[in-house]
Amino acid sequence: MSSRIEFCKMDFLKEKLRSLDTDLILIVADLNVWSLYSKTLSLLNIDGKNVLLWKAPDGEKVKDFENLSSALDFFLSRNVHRKAHVVSLGGGATSDFSGMVAALMLRGVKWSTIPTTLLSMVDAAIGGKVAINSPQGKNLIGAFHHPENIWVCDSFLETLDQKEISSGAGEIVKYALLSRDIYAKIIPDVEVKSLIKDCVQFKEEVVTEDFKETGRRKILNFGHTFGHAIEKEYHLPHGISVVWGILLMDILFNDGKYKADIFKIIENLNIDLGESPWLNKEFPVENIMLYLRKDKKTTSSELIDLVVLKEIGNVEILSVSFSEIENKISDKKEDIKKLCSI
Ligand SMILES: NC(=O)c1ccc[n+]([C@@H]2O[C@H](COP(=O)([O-])OP(=O)(O)OC[C@H]3O[C@@H](n4cnc5c(N)ncnc54)[C@H](O)[C@@H]3O)[C@@H](O)[C@H]2O)c1
Repeated sequence: MSSRIEFCKMDFLKEKLRSLDTDLILIVADLNVWSLYSKTLSLLNIDGKNVLLWKAPDGEKVKDFENLSSALDFFLSRNVHRKAHVVSLGGGATSDFSGMVAALMLRGVKWSTIPTTLLSMVDAAIGGKVAINSPQGKNLIGAFHHPENIWVCDSFLETLDQKEISSGAGEIVKYALLSRDIYAKIIPDVEVKSLIKDCVQFKEEVVTEDFKETGRRKILNFGHTFGHAIEKEYHLPHGISVVWGILLMDILFNDGKYKADIFKIIENLNIDLGESPWLNKEFPVENIMLYLRKDKKTTSSELIDLVVLKEIGNVEILSVSFSEIENKISDKKEDIKKLCSI
């Protein structure tokens, strides 16, 4: 199962929507993105289509039950039918949310997505994992629901602020460590836009092989278990948290063997990582362990699957007990403290 992925200019988006096999298009648009691009895109008047728009609170705050219920109510009260097609316009938060709307409405309608952040272009829009958050943790309520189309227009990145570009580049760090081909392309000052296609192709290939994440797809979680915990604890952008997660995994499972390589990738991609969030403070072991225990990758009350780097371009999945992780954190306390410098 896979999506149709097209790299196109913004001017073509209206035509893409016109060509959908439906008379009813349900747009879910990130509020900020809509304010910036609604005039240019002009998606509300498409010949032969009835177009409804639900404006989503921007970014992560859309991913809760209240908004899900509100979007579903909005569309369902306007005579939605089974051939209605949801179109997401926004970053990863909007596509995760829109995919949930599409998965639940009338037991599932088709959907397509227009990613507008770097992170959603290289990662979130691809692969059909859709979710909202729970007070218990990130993305704990979700489904697998493939988008029919992913239309990537990199000119959306022109209005994206540097913090969000760095966050997207954080996911590229992950790909560079998973794929030697992508690693080879991370030369000094490489333009991130030039890497989008490679990352998309890599993820799509992995997802096509293992849609429901019973095997190989697990590698895409590299850095994410600690990453999600760090994101929750420090409210950092997703991709930046993932980079800290990758660095922590390196200390805990590889004695920091790849630290210099990872920092080189960060530098080449011009990622503004900032200082480590626990600089001059104790690493919050207890909270991090609590988040880990609630992670989706837990496989029993005592075990969790972690992705560990074996060499650049090659990882393995280890089933690790929580007590082992806690012991490792305690053993490597000093290295974790010093993580902010090479
Ligand atoms: N489903 C998956 O496989 C997957 C993978 C990775 C991440 N995610 C999810 O993606 C989410 C993060 O997504 P994100 O990093 O794309 O951020 P986001 O969707 O939260 O957007 C971040 C901010 O950028 C703004 N924005 C978006 N596009 C813009 C543009 N072109 N110009 C100016 N501003 C713009 C938004 O309004 C928002 O304020 C998280 O919820 C994460 O869980 C999902």
